[in-house]
Amino acid sequence: MTASSPDEPVSPDAVSPDAVSPDESVRPLERGLAVLRAMAADPSPRQRAGDLARETGLARSTVDRVATTLTRLGHLRSDGRDLLLTPRLMEFGNAYLASCGLPEALAPHASALADRLDESVSIAVPDEDGVRFITQAPRRRTMAVSFRIGDLLPAERCAPGALFAARWTEAERERWLTRRRTDPLDSRFPAVPKRTGADDGRQVEADFEDRVRAARETGSSLDDQLIEPGLVAVALPVRDPSGTTVCAVSVVSHTSRHTAPSLAEHALPRLRSTVGAMEHTLRSQAPAPPPPADALAAFDSSLKEELGSGFLQSLARGLDVLRALGSRRGPMSLADTARATALPRATARRALLTLQHLGYATAEPDGYRLLPRVMDLGFPRLSQLTFAQIARPHLAALVEQVHESASVAVLDGDDIRYLARVAASRIMRVDITVGTRFPAYATSMGRVLLAALPEQERLDHLSRVTPRQFTPRTRTTVPALSRALATAAREGWALVDQELEEGLCSLAVPVTDDLGRVIAAANVALHASRGTADQIRDTVLPPLREAARRIGEDLAVVSRFTGSRIR
Ligand code: PHB
Repeated sequence: MTASSPDEPVSPDAVSPDAVSPDESVRPLERGLAVLRAMAADPSPRQRAGDLARETGLARSTVDRVATTLTRLGHLRSDGRDLLLTPRLMEFGNAYLASCGLPEALAPHASALADRLDESVSIAVPDEDGVRFITQAPRRRTMAVSFRIGDLLPAERCAPGALFAARWTEAERERWLTRRRTDPLDSRFPAVPKRTGADDGRQVEADFEDRVRAARETGSSLDDQLIEPGLVAVALPVRDPSGTTVCAVSVVSHTSRHTAPSLAEHALPRLRSTVGAMEHTLRSQAPAPPPPADALAAFDSSLKEELGSGFLQSLARGLDVLRALGSRRGPMSLADTARATALPRATARRALLTLQHLGYATAEPDGYRLLPRVMDLGFPRLSQLTFAQIARPHLAALVEQVHESASVAVLDGDDIRYLARVAASRIMRVDITVGTRFPAYATSMGRVLLAALPEQERLDHLSRVTPRQFTPRTRTTVPALSRALATAAREGWALVDQELEEGLCSLAVPVTDDLGRVIAAANVALHASRGTADQIRDTVLPPLREAARRIGEDLAVVSRFTGSRIR
Protein backbone atom coordinates (compact mmCIF):
# COMPACT_ATOMS: atom_id res chain seq x y z
CA MET A 1 0.00 0.00 0.00
CA THR A 2 1.52 3.32 -0.97
CA ALA A 3 0.84 6.35 1.15
CA SER A 4 -0.65 9.21 -0.81
CA SER A 5 1.51 12.24 -1.44
CA PRO A 6 0.76 15.23 0.79
CA ASP A 7 -0.20 17.29 -2.22
CA GLU A 8 -2.61 14.87 -3.77
CA PRO A 9 -5.51 16.99 -4.95
CA VAL A 10 -9.04 16.43 -3.72
CA SER A 11 -11.37 15.86 -6.64
CA PRO A 12 -13.52 18.80 -7.76
CA ASP A 13 -16.62 17.05 -6.38
CA ALA A 14 -15.09 16.79 -2.96
CA VAL A 15 -14.69 20.51 -2.41
CA SER A 16 -16.92 23.24 -3.67
CA PRO A 17 -15.89 23.64 -7.29
CA ASP A 18 -15.42 27.38 -7.32
CA ALA A 19 -13.24 27.45 -4.22
CA VAL A 20 -9.55 27.80 -4.82
CA SER A 21 -7.50 25.86 -2.37
CA PRO A 22 -5.27 28.26 -0.44
CA ASP A 23 -1.68 27.13 -0.20
CA GLU A 24 -1.98 26.90 3.54
CA SER A 25 -5.01 24.64 3.54
CA VAL A 26 -4.56 21.47 5.59
CA ARG A 27 -4.96 18.64 3.10
CA PRO A 28 -5.74 15.81 5.57
CA LEU A 29 -8.49 17.97 7.08
CA GLU A 30 -9.92 18.68 3.62
CA ARG A 31 -9.84 14.98 2.81
CA GLY A 32 -11.38 13.92 6.10
CA LEU A 33 -14.25 16.34 5.62
CA ALA A 34 -14.65 15.20 1.99
CA VAL A 35 -15.06 11.60 3.18
CA LEU A 36 -17.57 12.58 5.87
CA ARG A 37 -19.55 14.68 3.41
CA ALA A 38 -19.59 11.88 0.85
CA MET A 39 -20.82 9.41 3.46
CA ALA A 40 -23.49 11.80 4.68
CA ALA A 41 -24.73 12.51 1.15
CA ASP A 42 -25.05 8.86 0.16
CA PRO A 43 -28.53 7.46 0.72
CA SER A 44 -27.12 4.25 2.16
CA PRO A 45 -25.97 4.40 5.78
CA ARG A 46 -23.21 1.85 5.06
CA GLN A 47 -20.31 2.44 2.75
CA ARG A 48 -17.16 0.72 1.62
CA ALA A 49 -13.77 2.44 1.47
CA GLY A 50 -13.52 1.62 -2.24
CA ASP A 51 -16.80 3.41 -2.99
CA LEU A 52 -15.70 6.40 -0.97
CA ALA A 53 -12.46 6.54 -2.93
CA ARG A 54 -14.48 6.64 -6.14
CA GLU A 55 -16.89 9.26 -4.86
CA THR A 56 -14.24 11.61 -3.47
CA GLY A 57 -11.57 11.04 -6.08
CA LEU A 58 -9.10 10.26 -3.28
CA ALA A 59 -6.63 7.40 -3.42
CA ARG A 60 -7.84 4.25 -1.71
CA SER A 61 -4.88 4.40 0.69
CA THR A 62 -5.85 7.95 1.65
CA VAL A 63 -9.44 6.92 2.33
CA ASP A 64 -8.12 4.09 4.51
CA ARG A 65 -6.01 6.44 6.60
CA VAL A 66 -8.86 8.94 6.88
CA ALA A 67 -11.21 6.11 7.93
CA THR A 68 -8.71 4.78 10.50
CA THR A 69 -8.33 8.25 11.99
CA LEU A 70 -12.05 9.04 12.02
CA THR A 71 -12.83 5.63 13.51
CA ARG A 72 -10.30 6.13 16.26
CA LEU A 73 -11.78 9.56 16.98
CA GLY A 74 -15.24 8.00 17.22
CA HIS A 75 -16.78 9.73 14.18
CA LEU A 76 -16.97 6.55 12.12
CA ARG A 77 -17.56 2.96 13.06
CA SER A 78 -16.69 -0.11 11.07
CA ASP A 79 -18.92 -3.14 10.84
CA GLY A 80 -17.17 -5.83 8.85
CA ARG A 81 -16.02 -4.05 5.71
CA ASP A 82 -18.68 -1.36 6.02
CA LEU A 83 -18.15 2.10 7.40
CA LEU A 84 -20.93 3.94 9.20
CA LEU A 85 -21.29 7.45 10.63
CA THR A 86 -21.59 7.55 14.42
CA PRO A 87 -23.82 9.76 16.55
CA ARG A 88 -20.71 11.54 17.79
CA LEU A 89 -20.45 13.20 14.38
CA MET A 90 -23.38 15.37 15.43
CA GLU A 91 -20.90 17.24 17.65
CA PHE A 92 -20.00 19.30 14.60
CA GLY A 93 -23.57 20.33 13.81
CA ASN A 94 -24.06 20.94 17.53
CA ALA A 95 -21.01 23.22 17.42
CA TYR A 96 -22.65 25.31 14.68
CA LEU A 97 -26.00 25.40 16.50
CA ALA A 98 -24.34 26.38 19.79
CA SER A 99 -22.17 29.06 18.24
CA CYS A 100 -25.01 30.68 16.30
CA GLY A 101 -26.92 30.77 19.59
CA LEU A 102 -30.31 30.85 17.84
CA PRO A 103 -31.84 27.51 18.93
CA GLU A 104 -30.98 28.18 22.54
CA ALA A 105 -32.45 31.69 22.46
CA LEU A 106 -35.42 31.10 20.17
CA ALA A 107 -36.59 27.47 20.49
CA PRO A 108 -38.67 28.17 23.63
CA HIS A 109 -40.51 30.94 21.74
CA ALA A 110 -41.10 28.61 18.78
CA SER A 111 -42.55 25.87 21.01
CA ALA A 112 -44.83 28.33 22.78
CA LEU A 113 -46.13 29.55 19.41
CA ALA A 114 -46.68 25.98 18.19
CA ASP A 115 -48.69 25.29 21.37
CA ARG A 116 -50.83 28.39 20.97
CA LEU A 117 -51.55 27.87 17.28
CA ASP A 118 -51.55 24.08 17.40
CA GLU A 119 -49.51 24.08 14.18
CA SER A 120 -45.88 23.19 13.50
CA VAL A 121 -43.39 26.01 13.83
CA SER A 122 -39.85 25.99 12.47
CA ILE A 123 -36.83 28.25 12.44
CA ALA A 124 -34.50 28.38 9.43
CA VAL A 125 -31.32 30.27 8.58
CA PRO A 126 -30.02 31.38 5.18
CA ASP A 127 -27.33 29.14 3.74
CA GLU A 128 -26.07 30.67 0.49
CA ASP A 129 -29.07 30.37 -1.86
CA GLY A 130 -30.66 27.74 0.35
CA VAL A 131 -32.63 27.65 3.57
CA ARG A 132 -31.49 25.44 6.41
CA PHE A 133 -33.70 24.34 9.32
CA ILE A 134 -32.21 24.78 12.78
CA THR A 135 -35.24 24.26 15.04
CA GLN A 136 -38.48 22.36 14.70
CA ALA A 137 -41.46 22.53 17.04
CA PRO A 138 -43.66 19.95 15.32
CA ARG A 139 -47.29 19.15 15.97
CA ARG A 140 -47.91 15.53 15.15
CA ARG A 141 -50.71 15.59 12.67
CA THR A 142 -51.69 13.61 9.68
CA MET A 143 -50.34 14.94 6.43
CA ALA A 144 -47.81 17.36 7.84
CA VAL A 145 -44.27 16.97 6.58
CA SER A 146 -41.64 17.96 8.98
CA PHE A 147 -38.14 18.58 7.82
CA ARG A 148 -35.25 17.47 9.95
CA ILE A 149 -32.95 19.88 11.70
CA GLY A 150 -30.08 20.47 9.29
CA ASP A 151 -32.12 19.86 6.14
CA LEU A 152 -31.45 22.26 3.29
CA LEU A 153 -34.19 23.56 0.96
CA PRO A 154 -33.88 25.63 -2.20
CA ALA A 155 -34.78 29.26 -1.36
CA GLU A 156 -37.48 29.35 -4.04
CA ARG A 157 -39.36 26.40 -2.58
CA CYS A 158 -40.21 27.59 0.90
CA ALA A 159 -41.55 30.60 2.76
CA PRO A 160 -38.28 31.72 4.44
CA GLY A 161 -36.37 31.75 1.13
CA ALA A 162 -38.17 34.80 -0.24
CA LEU A 163 -37.47 36.71 3.00
CA PHE A 164 -33.75 35.95 2.76
CA ALA A 165 -33.65 36.67 -0.97
CA ALA A 166 -35.27 40.07 -0.34
CA ARG A 167 -31.84 41.10 0.94
CA TRP A 168 -29.66 39.40 -1.66
CA THR A 169 -27.04 41.39 -3.52
CA GLU A 170 -27.00 41.17 -7.30
CA ALA A 171 -24.10 38.70 -7.04
CA GLU A 172 -26.11 36.50 -4.69
CA ARG A 173 -29.06 36.58 -7.09
CA GLU A 174 -26.71 35.57 -9.91
CA ARG A 175 -25.43 32.67 -7.84
CA TRP A 176 -29.02 31.52 -7.36
CA LEU A 177 -29.74 31.76 -11.10
CA THR A 178 -26.60 29.78 -11.86
CA ARG A 179 -27.68 27.07 -9.46
CA ARG A 180 -31.16 27.03 -11.01
CA ARG A 181 -29.61 26.53 -14.42
CA THR A 182 -27.18 23.84 -13.36
CA ASP A 183 -29.67 21.98 -11.16
CA PRO A 184 -33.16 22.65 -12.51
CA LEU A 185 -34.66 19.56 -10.82
CA ASP A 186 -33.27 20.34 -7.35
CA SER A 187 -31.31 17.12 -7.20
CA ARG A 188 -28.78 18.79 -4.90
CA PHE A 189 -31.53 19.09 -2.30
CA PRO A 190 -32.37 15.56 -1.18
CA ALA A 191 -34.77 16.87 1.49
CA VAL A 192 -37.33 18.01 -1.10
CA PRO A 193 -39.14 15.97 -3.74
CA LYS A 194 -37.34 16.34 -7.06
CA ARG A 195 -39.00 18.56 -9.63
CA THR A 196 -40.32 16.91 -12.73
CA GLY A 197 -39.15 17.91 -16.17
CA ALA A 198 -42.63 19.38 -16.65
CA ASP A 199 -41.80 22.40 -14.48
CA ASP A 200 -41.05 25.44 -16.59
CA GLY A 201 -37.73 26.77 -15.25
CA ARG A 202 -38.33 30.36 -16.35
CA GLN A 203 -41.74 30.35 -14.70
CA VAL A 204 -40.21 29.02 -11.46
CA GLU A 205 -37.72 31.88 -11.50
CA ALA A 206 -40.30 34.55 -12.37
CA ASP A 207 -42.62 33.30 -9.62
CA PHE A 208 -39.82 33.48 -7.08
CA GLU A 209 -38.89 37.03 -8.11
CA ASP A 210 -42.57 37.97 -7.60
CA ARG A 211 -42.57 36.38 -4.16
CA VAL A 212 -39.32 38.13 -3.24
CA ARG A 213 -40.85 41.48 -4.27
CA ALA A 214 -43.95 40.70 -2.18
CA ALA A 215 -41.76 39.75 0.77
CA ARG A 216 -39.93 43.08 0.46
CA GLU A 217 -43.23 44.96 0.41
CA THR A 218 -45.16 43.09 3.09
CA GLY A 219 -42.34 41.86 5.31
CA SER A 220 -43.84 38.35 5.30
CA SER A 221 -43.77 35.38 2.96
CA LEU A 222 -46.16 32.61 1.97
CA ASP A 223 -45.54 29.08 0.76
CA ASP A 224 -48.57 27.86 -1.15
CA GLN A 225 -47.66 24.22 -1.77
CA LEU A 226 -44.22 24.96 -3.20
CA ILE A 227 -42.74 21.77 -1.81
CA GLU A 228 -45.61 19.41 -2.16
CA PRO A 229 -49.37 19.47 -2.59
CA GLY A 230 -51.15 20.30 0.65
CA LEU A 231 -48.25 21.93 2.46
CA VAL A 232 -48.70 25.64 3.26
CA ALA A 233 -46.60 27.98 5.39
CA VAL A 234 -46.22 31.60 6.41
CA ALA A 235 -42.93 33.09 7.60
CA LEU A 236 -41.52 36.27 9.15
CA PRO A 237 -37.88 37.34 9.41
CA VAL A 238 -36.08 37.70 12.77
CA ARG A 239 -33.47 40.44 13.01
CA ASP A 240 -30.53 40.74 15.35
CA PRO A 241 -29.77 44.03 17.15
CA SER A 242 -27.80 45.26 14.10
CA GLY A 243 -30.86 44.81 11.87
CA THR A 244 -29.49 41.79 10.00
CA THR A 245 -32.01 39.05 9.21
CA VAL A 246 -30.53 36.10 11.08
CA CYS A 247 -33.34 33.59 10.61
CA ALA A 248 -37.01 33.21 9.75
CA VAL A 249 -39.84 31.66 11.72
CA SER A 250 -42.47 29.67 9.79
CA VAL A 251 -45.88 28.41 10.80
CA VAL A 252 -46.65 25.31 8.76
CA SER A 253 -50.07 23.85 8.06
CA HIS A 254 -52.02 21.75 5.61
CA THR A 255 -54.69 22.65 3.07
CA SER A 256 -57.11 20.39 4.95
CA ARG A 257 -57.04 23.09 7.67
CA HIS A 258 -56.00 26.29 5.89
CA THR A 259 -55.40 27.85 2.52
CA ALA A 260 -52.13 29.81 2.41
CA PRO A 261 -53.96 33.17 2.79
CA SER A 262 -56.20 31.89 5.61
CA LEU A 263 -53.15 30.54 7.42
CA ALA A 264 -51.52 33.97 7.13
CA GLU A 265 -54.62 35.65 8.52
CA HIS A 266 -54.88 33.16 11.35
CA ALA A 267 -51.21 32.94 12.29
CA LEU A 268 -49.64 36.33 11.49
CA PRO A 269 -50.78 38.28 14.57
CA ARG A 270 -49.30 35.73 16.97
CA LEU A 271 -46.31 35.11 14.74
CA ARG A 272 -45.58 38.85 14.81
CA SER A 273 -45.69 39.05 18.57
CA THR A 274 -43.49 35.93 18.82
CA VAL A 275 -40.92 37.51 16.51
CA GLY A 276 -41.03 40.66 18.68
CA ALA A 277 -40.29 38.53 21.73
CA MET A 278 -37.52 36.69 19.87
CA GLU A 279 -35.86 39.93 18.83
CA HIS A 280 -36.09 41.15 22.39
CA THR A 281 -34.36 37.98 23.60
CA LEU A 282 -31.57 38.46 21.04
CA ARG A 283 -31.11 42.09 22.16
CA SER A 284 -30.87 41.15 25.80
CA GLN A 285 -28.37 38.29 25.41
CA ALA A 286 -25.26 38.96 27.48
CA PRO A 287 -21.98 38.59 25.58
CA ALA A 288 -20.70 35.02 25.82
CA PRO A 289 -17.58 34.48 27.92
CA PRO A 290 -14.49 33.07 26.18
CA PRO A 291 -14.16 29.29 26.39
CA PRO A 292 -11.87 27.80 29.01
CA ALA A 293 -8.35 26.85 27.98
CA ASP A 294 -7.72 23.25 26.85
CA ALA A 295 -11.42 22.43 27.14
CA LEU A 296 -11.55 20.92 23.69
CA ALA A 297 -8.22 19.34 23.18
CA ALA A 298 -9.56 15.88 22.47
CA PHE A 299 -6.56 15.06 20.34
CA ASP A 300 -4.23 12.93 22.30
CA SER A 301 -0.68 12.35 21.16
CA SER A 302 -0.91 8.73 22.31
CA LEU A 303 -3.23 8.11 19.35
CA LYS A 304 -0.44 9.06 17.01
CA GLU A 305 1.87 6.59 18.75
CA GLU A 306 -0.78 3.90 18.75
CA LEU A 307 -1.64 4.19 15.07
CA GLY A 308 1.60 5.54 13.62
CA SER A 309 1.39 6.76 10.04
CA GLY A 310 -2.21 5.49 9.83
CA PHE A 311 -3.24 8.36 12.06
CA LEU A 312 -3.73 11.75 10.43
CA GLN A 313 -2.82 14.09 13.24
CA SER A 314 -3.71 17.25 11.36
CA LEU A 315 -7.18 15.86 10.60
CA ALA A 316 -7.73 15.20 14.31
CA ARG A 317 -6.48 18.67 15.20
CA GLY A 318 -8.59 20.35 12.53
CA LEU A 319 -11.72 18.65 13.84
CA ASP A 320 -10.83 19.84 17.33
CA VAL A 321 -10.76 23.36 15.93
CA LEU A 322 -14.17 22.86 14.35
CA ARG A 323 -15.63 21.69 17.66
CA ALA A 324 -13.86 24.47 19.54
CA LEU A 325 -15.69 27.11 17.48
CA GLY A 326 -18.86 25.73 19.06
CA SER A 327 -17.65 26.24 22.59
CA ARG A 328 -18.95 29.79 22.75
CA ARG A 329 -21.73 31.79 21.16
CA GLY A 330 -20.56 34.20 18.49
CA PRO A 331 -17.23 34.50 16.69
CA MET A 332 -14.06 33.19 18.26
CA SER A 333 -10.64 34.79 17.95
CA LEU A 334 -7.60 32.87 16.76
CA ALA A 335 -6.06 33.29 20.22
CA ASP A 336 -9.14 31.80 21.95
CA THR A 337 -9.31 28.95 19.43
CA ALA A 338 -5.65 28.11 19.97
CA ARG A 339 -6.12 28.24 23.74
CA ALA A 340 -9.29 26.10 23.71
CA THR A 341 -7.64 23.42 21.60
CA ALA A 342 -4.18 23.67 23.22
CA LEU A 343 -2.75 23.97 19.69
CA PRO A 344 -0.01 26.29 18.48
CA ARG A 345 -1.48 29.44 16.93
CA ALA A 346 -0.08 28.60 13.50
CA THR A 347 -1.71 25.16 13.57
CA ALA A 348 -5.08 26.54 14.68
CA ARG A 349 -4.82 29.26 12.02
CA ARG A 350 -4.26 26.81 9.20
CA ALA A 351 -7.19 24.69 10.35
CA LEU A 352 -9.40 27.81 10.47
CA LEU A 353 -8.30 28.82 6.96
CA THR A 354 -9.14 25.34 5.73
CA LEU A 355 -12.61 25.44 7.30
CA GLN A 356 -13.12 28.88 5.79
CA HIS A 357 -11.99 27.71 2.38
CA LEU A 358 -14.42 24.76 2.49
CA GLY A 359 -17.36 26.98 3.47
CA TYR A 360 -17.69 25.72 7.04
CA ALA A 361 -16.50 28.92 8.70
CA THR A 362 -16.23 32.59 7.98
CA ALA A 363 -13.75 35.20 9.16
CA GLU A 364 -15.28 38.28 10.78
CA PRO A 365 -13.66 41.29 12.44
CA ASP A 366 -14.11 39.63 15.87
CA GLY A 367 -12.94 36.18 14.82
CA TYR A 368 -14.10 33.03 13.13
CA ARG A 369 -17.69 31.80 13.09
CA LEU A 370 -19.10 28.46 11.96
CA LEU A 371 -21.52 28.44 9.04
CA PRO A 372 -24.69 26.33 8.64
CA ARG A 373 -22.96 24.23 5.99
CA VAL A 374 -21.41 22.28 8.88
CA MET A 375 -24.80 20.56 9.17
CA ASP A 376 -23.99 18.75 5.91
CA LEU A 377 -21.70 16.51 7.93
CA GLY A 378 -24.45 13.98 8.62
CA PHE A 379 -26.55 15.98 11.04
CA PRO A 380 -30.05 15.51 9.55
CA ARG A 381 -29.63 11.79 9.07
CA LEU A 382 -28.10 11.11 12.48
CA SER A 383 -30.73 13.27 14.18
CA GLN A 384 -33.27 10.60 13.19
CA LEU A 385 -31.54 7.83 15.14
CA THR A 386 -33.75 6.19 17.71
CA PHE A 387 -32.56 5.28 21.18
CA ALA A 388 -32.41 1.62 20.12
CA GLN A 389 -30.22 2.47 17.11
CA ILE A 390 -27.91 4.53 19.30
CA ALA A 391 -27.65 1.81 21.94
CA ARG A 392 -27.29 -1.25 19.70
CA PRO A 393 -23.64 -0.87 18.58
CA HIS A 394 -22.60 -0.38 22.20
CA LEU A 395 -24.61 -3.39 23.30
CA ALA A 396 -23.03 -5.40 20.49
CA ALA A 397 -19.53 -4.40 21.63
CA LEU A 398 -20.45 -5.38 25.18
CA VAL A 399 -21.81 -8.77 24.06
CA GLU A 400 -18.60 -9.34 22.16
CA GLN A 401 -16.67 -8.78 25.38
CA VAL A 402 -18.76 -10.71 27.88
CA HIS A 403 -20.33 -13.31 25.56
CA GLU A 404 -23.74 -12.81 27.13
CA SER A 405 -26.88 -11.01 25.96
CA ALA A 406 -27.28 -7.32 26.69
CA SER A 407 -30.30 -5.00 26.60
CA VAL A 408 -31.59 -1.55 27.37
CA ALA A 409 -34.99 -0.82 28.86
CA VAL A 410 -37.03 2.05 30.23
CA LEU A 411 -39.68 2.31 32.89
CA ASP A 412 -43.17 2.25 31.40
CA GLY A 413 -45.82 2.50 34.07
CA ASP A 414 -44.99 -0.18 36.61
CA ASP A 415 -43.12 -2.30 34.05
CA ILE A 416 -39.85 -2.15 32.30
CA ARG A 417 -40.03 -2.24 28.51
CA TYR A 418 -37.14 -3.48 26.36
CA LEU A 419 -36.02 -0.94 23.75
CA ALA A 420 -33.05 -2.82 22.32
CA ARG A 421 -31.42 -6.14 22.79
CA VAL A 422 -28.37 -7.91 21.38
CA ALA A 423 -28.33 -11.65 21.99
CA ALA A 424 -25.12 -13.61 22.53
CA SER A 425 -24.82 -16.50 20.14
CA ARG A 426 -25.01 -19.23 22.72
CA ILE A 427 -27.14 -22.29 22.52
CA MET A 428 -28.75 -21.52 25.83
CA ARG A 429 -29.78 -17.94 25.94
CA VAL A 430 -32.44 -15.90 27.55
CA ASP A 431 -35.26 -15.34 25.13
CA ILE A 432 -36.54 -11.79 25.24
CA THR A 433 -37.43 -9.45 22.39
CA VAL A 434 -37.75 -5.69 21.97
CA GLY A 435 -41.05 -4.56 23.43
CA THR A 436 -41.05 -7.28 26.10
CA ARG A 437 -42.37 -6.05 29.43
CA PHE A 438 -41.63 -7.34 32.91
CA PRO A 439 -42.72 -6.07 36.31
CA ALA A 440 -40.03 -3.60 37.32
CA TYR A 441 -39.62 -4.87 40.90
CA ALA A 442 -38.50 -8.35 39.78
CA THR A 443 -35.81 -7.25 37.31
CA SER A 444 -32.36 -5.71 37.66
CA MET A 445 -33.11 -2.95 35.14
CA GLY A 446 -36.38 -2.21 36.92
CA ARG A 447 -34.55 -1.90 40.21
CA VAL A 448 -31.99 0.63 38.99
CA LEU A 449 -34.79 2.58 37.32
CA LEU A 450 -37.04 2.51 40.40
CA ALA A 451 -34.03 3.39 42.56
CA ALA A 452 -33.62 6.60 40.57
CA LEU A 453 -37.19 7.79 41.18
CA PRO A 454 -37.89 10.51 43.72
CA GLU A 455 -38.56 8.88 47.08
CA GLN A 456 -42.31 9.47 47.09
CA GLU A 457 -42.72 7.92 43.63
CA ARG A 458 -40.67 4.94 44.70
CA LEU A 459 -42.89 4.43 47.75
CA ASP A 460 -46.05 4.92 45.66
CA HIS A 461 -44.82 2.26 43.23
CA LEU A 462 -44.12 -0.26 45.98
CA SER A 463 -47.48 0.31 47.63
CA ARG A 464 -49.30 0.11 44.30
CA VAL A 465 -47.92 -3.14 42.89
CA THR A 466 -48.72 -6.62 44.18
CA PRO A 467 -45.46 -8.53 43.73
CA ARG A 468 -45.80 -12.02 42.38
CA GLN A 469 -43.75 -14.93 43.64
CA PHE A 470 -42.15 -15.88 40.29
CA THR A 471 -39.59 -18.17 41.98
CA PRO A 472 -38.86 -19.11 45.57
CA ARG A 473 -36.26 -16.30 45.53
CA THR A 474 -38.53 -13.46 44.39
CA ARG A 475 -38.58 -10.62 46.90
CA THR A 476 -42.23 -9.75 47.40
CA THR A 477 -42.43 -7.67 50.57
CA VAL A 478 -42.23 -3.90 50.64
CA PRO A 479 -39.37 -3.84 53.17
CA ALA A 480 -37.31 -6.37 51.16
CA LEU A 481 -37.87 -4.49 47.90
CA SER A 482 -37.20 -1.13 49.57
CA ARG A 483 -33.89 -2.45 50.81
CA ALA A 484 -33.00 -3.74 47.34
CA LEU A 485 -33.81 -0.36 45.80
CA ALA A 486 -31.81 1.50 48.44
CA THR A 487 -28.83 -0.74 47.73
CA ALA A 488 -29.20 -0.20 43.97
CA ALA A 489 -29.34 3.57 44.51
CA ARG A 490 -26.25 3.50 46.70
CA GLU A 491 -24.16 1.13 44.58
CA GLY A 492 -25.24 2.30 41.14
CA TRP A 493 -26.06 -1.21 39.96
CA ALA A 494 -28.46 -4.06 40.74
CA LEU A 495 -28.06 -7.79 40.47
CA VAL A 496 -31.18 -9.93 40.40
CA ASP A 497 -30.41 -13.58 40.98
CA GLN A 498 -33.18 -15.91 39.80
CA GLU A 499 -36.03 -13.80 41.15
CA LEU A 500 -37.83 -13.51 37.80
CA GLU A 501 -37.04 -16.97 36.51
CA GLU A 502 -35.13 -19.98 37.81
CA GLY A 503 -31.64 -20.01 36.39
CA LEU A 504 -31.71 -16.41 35.15
CA CYS A 505 -29.34 -13.80 36.54
CA SER A 506 -29.25 -10.19 35.46
CA LEU A 507 -26.94 -7.32 36.26
CA ALA A 508 -28.06 -3.75 35.43
CA VAL A 509 -26.72 -0.21 35.60
CA PRO A 510 -28.39 3.12 34.85
CA VAL A 511 -27.89 5.04 31.60
CA THR A 512 -27.70 8.74 32.41
CA ASP A 513 -28.05 11.91 30.34
CA ASP A 514 -25.59 14.81 30.34
CA LEU A 515 -27.15 16.16 33.56
CA GLY A 516 -26.73 12.83 35.33
CA ARG A 517 -30.44 12.00 35.22
CA VAL A 518 -31.26 8.31 34.84
CA ILE A 519 -33.07 7.88 31.53
CA ALA A 520 -32.80 4.14 30.90
CA ALA A 521 -31.09 1.02 32.18
CA ALA A 522 -28.69 -1.41 30.52
CA ASN A 523 -28.19 -5.00 31.58
CA VAL A 524 -26.41 -8.24 30.91
CA ALA A 525 -28.50 -11.36 31.40
CA LEU A 526 -26.89 -14.74 31.93
CA HIS A 527 -27.51 -18.21 33.20
CA ALA A 528 -26.98 -18.61 36.94
CA SER A 529 -24.54 -21.44 36.29
CA ARG A 530 -22.10 -18.91 34.84
CA GLY A 531 -20.77 -18.01 38.28
CA THR A 532 -21.52 -16.72 41.72
CA ALA A 533 -23.10 -13.31 42.08
CA ASP A 534 -19.69 -11.89 43.09
CA GLN A 535 -17.97 -13.41 40.06
CA ILE A 536 -20.63 -12.07 37.72
CA ARG A 537 -20.34 -8.62 39.26
CA ASP A 538 -16.55 -8.59 39.06
CA THR A 539 -16.36 -9.63 35.43
CA VAL A 540 -19.46 -8.03 33.96
CA LEU A 541 -19.93 -4.77 35.86
CA PRO A 542 -16.92 -2.83 34.46
CA PRO A 543 -17.69 -3.45 30.75
CA LEU A 544 -21.43 -2.96 31.37
CA ARG A 545 -20.73 0.41 33.01
CA GLU A 546 -18.52 1.41 30.10
CA ALA A 547 -21.23 0.48 27.57
CA ALA A 548 -23.85 2.43 29.54
CA ARG A 549 -21.53 5.43 29.69
CA ARG A 550 -21.02 5.36 25.92
CA ILE A 551 -24.74 5.04 25.25
CA GLY A 552 -25.43 8.01 27.52
CA GLU A 553 -22.69 10.03 25.85
CA ASP A 554 -24.02 9.38 22.34
CA LEU A 555 -27.53 10.11 23.46
CA ALA A 556 -26.44 13.45 24.90
CA VAL A 557 -24.78 14.44 21.61
CA VAL A 558 -27.78 13.40 19.52
CA SER A 559 -30.44 15.01 21.69
CA ARG A 560 -28.63 18.25 22.52
CA PHE A 561 -30.59 20.21 19.91
CA THR A 562 -33.08 17.64 18.67
CA GLY A 563 -34.93 16.63 21.84
CA SER A 564 -35.30 13.40 23.74
CA ARG A 565 -35.70 10.15 21.87
CA ILE A 566 -36.63 7.87 24.72
CA ARG A 567 -40.03 6.50 23.86
C1 PHB B 1 -41.35 23.34 7.68
O1 PHB B 1 -40.88 23.75 8.74
O2 PHB B 1 -41.66 22.15 7.53
C2 PHB B 1 -41.59 24.30 6.57
C3 PHB B 1 -41.27 25.64 6.72
C4 PHB B 1 -41.49 26.52 5.68
C5 PHB B 1 -42.04 26.07 4.50
C6 PHB B 1 -42.38 24.74 4.35
C7 PHB B 1 -42.15 23.85 5.38
O3 PHB B 1 -42.29 26.92 3.50
